[in-house]
Amino acid sequence: MDRGEELYREDSEDRGLYAALSSYSKNGCYPYHMPGHKRSALAGDMARYFDIDITEIDGFDDLHQAEGILRDAMRFANELYGAEETFYLVNGSTCGVLASIMTAAERGAELLVARNCHRSVYHAAILQELTLRYCYPPILEEYGICDGVSAEDVGRLLEQYPDCRAVVVTSPTYEGIVSDIRAIAEQVHARGRILIVDEAHGAHLALDENAPEGAVAGGADLIIHSLHKTLPSMTQTALLHVQGERVDRRKLRAYLRMLQTGSPSYVLMAGMDSCMRYMRRHGRERFAFLRRQYDLFCEKMETCRYIRVGRITDLSPQKHFLSGWDIGKLTIFVRHPRVNGRRLYDMLREDYRLQMEMAAGDYVLAMMTVMDDEESWQRLADALVQIDDRIEKESAGEETEVLPSNSVQPSGQAWTETEAVMSIAQAFEAERTAVPLAEAEGRTAADFVNLYPPGVPLLVPGELISGRALAQIDAFLRMGLRVQGVTSDGRAETVSCVRDGRFFH
Ligand SMILES: Cc1ncc(COP(=O)(O)O)c(C=O)c1O
Repeated sequence: MDRGEELYREDSEDRGLYAALSSYSKNGCYPYHMPGHKRSALAGDMARYFDIDITEIDGFDDLHQAEGILRDAMRFANELYGAEETFYLVNGSTCGVLASIMTAAERGAELLVARNCHRSVYHAAILQELTLRYCYPPILEEYGICDGVSAEDVGRLLEQYPDCRAVVVTSPTYEGIVSDIRAIAEQVHARGRILIVDEAHGAHLALDENAPEGAVAGGADLIIHSLHKTLPSMTQTALLHVQGERVDRRKLRAYLRMLQTGSPSYVLMAGMDSCMRYMRRHGRERFAFLRRQYDLFCEKMETCRYIRVGRITDLSPQKHFLSGWDIGKLTIFVRHPRVNGRRLYDMLREDYRLQMEMAAGDYVLAMMTVMDDEESWQRLADALVQIDDRIEKESAGEETEVLPSNSVQPSGQAWTETEAVMSIAQAFEAERTAVPLAEAEGRTAADFVNLYPPGVPLLVPGELISGRALAQIDAFLRMGLRVQGVTSDGRAETVSCVRDGRFFH
């Protein structure tokens, strides 16, 4: 008997991850979250990929020098998206973001990034020892979440920091806010710089004729897509598109080779190919279905008093920088003194077996994709209407202030602008010490402090820790939200600081 079989038998009572995953998949808990395939039978043959887990044997090409079936598969994806060149990524958007930034900004260069970028952008800054300049997207007051990135701000900041080699923008955001990439690209290209769009959450936009314009059509130079987030594709699968003359493609290929495994999974690559083929064949009809269900869902939600879905049509007519709101991201706001986003999230999971993608201060995020059927929409709408009724009944006779529908409580995304006193890479390398939050004001952060999900940084290594930043971190902790980078030493909550960092006093 080989060791694998032996282990299997020894461990038959509790077969670890596999057993946990397979029993979870049977427990009836419906996924309103990633990955986009939703464990749905609609995905057809995708469940059978174990059979095809091979390596680069004769006739099966080499991802890092594709000249055969993998080149053809990548061309297929490329035609679907209409970019000039498309690469498969088997290490998620993470490696696409790293490779794009390392290609566009040489070691020690400056980079302009939207502050709400994913941590992979910050990791690239460590690896490449970059100096980051920030663009802070305004907050949509109605919802307390980030607006799109303003093209004017990008232009102004590029004038202020003319040495920035490239600009990085996240669009759509985790909450589905889509920036006007076309306008941003104009500002960036007018100054001869490269625009990188982290479109990890928007792989579906270009495939849905009614969705806001995607970054490939908008003219960005490098565009990164997580297929696994919003399309029927397996975790880790992603695409990188490149177009135009500004990007050094030799360097890009070299970085992709460095940052990706030398043994890319054919299961994942076959999955990407199937996803592309599925979307070409069924995309139009599935997106039309999604849109119908979305409209019905929003109609049902209109009866609610305390719960409502964030919609672009509800935004007040002040100037906004978003060019659209992805209907696959349901930001479900709750406005009641005793029910916050975390409580709503728990109620949906515990009482209705509906697992949301995330909870924030006053909303939960549900992800809907082309893999969701009528029942999945219905279950969520019914649960929310019932919860709204419960809130109403439980509040009967209570003096509860129902906030006007256009002013939700400030959410987790209000910016505290920060001051860097050393580079991210320097702080990352420096000796560090854990400092209680109450004593951290004036110290220099040695690590990231992120509100998670989505992982937007409240503090970046090398930044001075202000009283405002600490107050914000404290408020998030008290709301029961996950703040990465704050740990407990048994007596107090601490953050990691540079040992001899600068002090105010
Ligand atoms: C905006 C954004 N970019 C990049 C990533 C990384 O994507 P992946 O998990 O495919 O590596 C994420 C992941 O959550 C993300 O939210």
